[in-house]
Amino acid sequence: MSRPAPTPHVFSRPAPKPVSLELEERLILTLYSQRHLPEAERAARSLTERAPSHGFGWKALGLILRDQDRAQEALPVMQHAAKLLPRDPEAFNNLGVLLEALKQPEHALPCYEHAIQVKPDFWLGLNNLCSLLHRQGKTEELLPLLERKLALRPDDGVVQHEIAMLSGRQTDSAPAAYITDVFDHYAERFDAHLQNDLRYQVPQQLAAWLKEHAPTPSGWRVLDLGCGTGLLSEPLKGLCSELVGIDLSGKMLEKARERGGHTRLEQADVLTQMQREADASFDAIVAADVFIYVGKLDAVLREAQRLLTPGGMLAFSVESMEKASPQATADDLQRGHRLERSGRYSHADARLRQQAAEAGFTVVRQEDSTLREEHKLPVNGQLVLWRK
Ligand SMILES: C[S@@+](CC[C@H](N)C(=O)[O-])C[C@H]1O[C@@H](n2cnc3c(N)ncnc32)[C@H](O)[C@@H]1O
Repeated sequence: MSRPAPTPHVFSRPAPKPVSLELEERLILTLYSQRHLPEAERAARSLTERAPSHGFGWKALGLILRDQDRAQEALPVMQHAAKLLPRDPEAFNNLGVLLEALKQPEHALPCYEHAIQVKPDFWLGLNNLCSLLHRQGKTEELLPLLERKLALRPDDGVVQHEIAMLSGRQTDSAPAAYITDVFDHYAERFDAHLQNDLRYQVPQQLAAWLKEHAPTPSGWRVLDLGCGTGLLSEPLKGLCSELVGIDLSGKMLEKARERGGHTRLEQADVLTQMQREADASFDAIVAADVFIYVGKLDAVLREAQRLLTPGGMLAFSVESMEKASPQATADDLQRGHRLERSGRYSHADARLRQQAAEAGFTVVRQEDSTLREEHKLPVNGQLVLWRK
C-alpha cells in the first residue's frame, strides 16, 4: 500500500527568446499537451536539427519519445538535454524518472539530487527523490527531505503522516489526505493485488462470523466502514436489506459502485459519516482492515454503540501490537494503538477488550489471525466480533 512515484512534471515557462524559437516552443508544447505525439516529435526533431545547442528541443523530444513508450531512444536525448541545461531541474527530474523506468535507480538518484540542489523547493523532484529513498529503505536520508517538504507545505497531511510513521512520533489517526492519496492510487489494482497476491480474506472471514452469530438469517442492515472496492458485498449477497458503504477514497468508491453490491455509498471519513446516521439504524457494522488507519478507536466505538440495534454486531480486524516489532512498550500497551513504520496502526488485545467493556459491547470472538501477506510474510492480526 505504498504510494507510487508521482507522475513527473513537464515544462517551465520558456525564458524570453527570439520570436521564432518562442513560437516553435509554443507549437511543440501545444502538440505535446494535446497528445499529438508524432506531430510533436517531428516539430521537436526539426528544432534540434536546426538549433542543436538549444536545450528545449532535446528536453521536449525526450519526453515525447518516452510518452510513446520509446524509453531506450529517449535516454540519450534526455541525457543530452541535461548536459545542455545544467541549471534546469526539470531536465534532471525527467531523466531520473526515465532511469527509474529503465530499472536504474542508482543512476536516477543523483539526477533527483541535482534537481533539488538547483532548485531547493522543486516539489516534483523532492517527491521523486523521497519515493525512491523510501523504496530503498533509506530512512535517515529520507527524513530531512520530508521535513523540507513539510516546511514548504506545512498542512500537507501526506507528508505529516510519512514523517510520523518514519520517526516513531505517535498520532491518533492517519490524515484524510494520506488515505485518499494511498487508496486513489491503489484502487485500480486493489482487488487483484490483495486477493491474489496478498491472500486477503478478511471480508469473507468477518462475513462468515456474522452468518454464524447473527440473530436473524437475513434482512440485515449493515454499515460497511471503509468499504473500499466493495468486497464485503459478495459474501453478504442476499443477506442484507441495506448495505451502506463509507469511504474517503473516491476511486475506491467508483470500484464499489461498479461492483453494485451496496445500496448506498458515502464519500466521507468513517466517524463523520457515522455521526450523520440515525440511532439504532444498523444490525451490524463491519470494518475490514480499516481500523489499521483509524488508530484511536474510542469515538468510533461510541458511535457504533449508538448506531446498532440491541444485539447488533460489530465485526472488524486489527493488526496485533503484541506481535509487531519493535516490542510494545508499557506506554504503547496503555495507549492501545501504535503507528507502525508501515504507516498503519497496530492495536493491543487487552486494551481492545477494555474498550469493548467501556463502550458497552460483549466480546463474542476475538482471535489471532493472519490478515494478509506483506513481502511474502504473514501480517499478524486479530479478527473481532462484539455484540451490543
Ligand atoms: C485496506 S482497505 C479495505 C477495504 C475494504 N474494507 C476491504 O476489506 O476490501 C481500507 C479502506 O479504508 C478506507 N479508509 C481508511 N481510513 C478511512 C477513514 N478514516 N474514513 C473512511 N475511509 C477510510 C480506505 O480509503 C480504504 O478504502
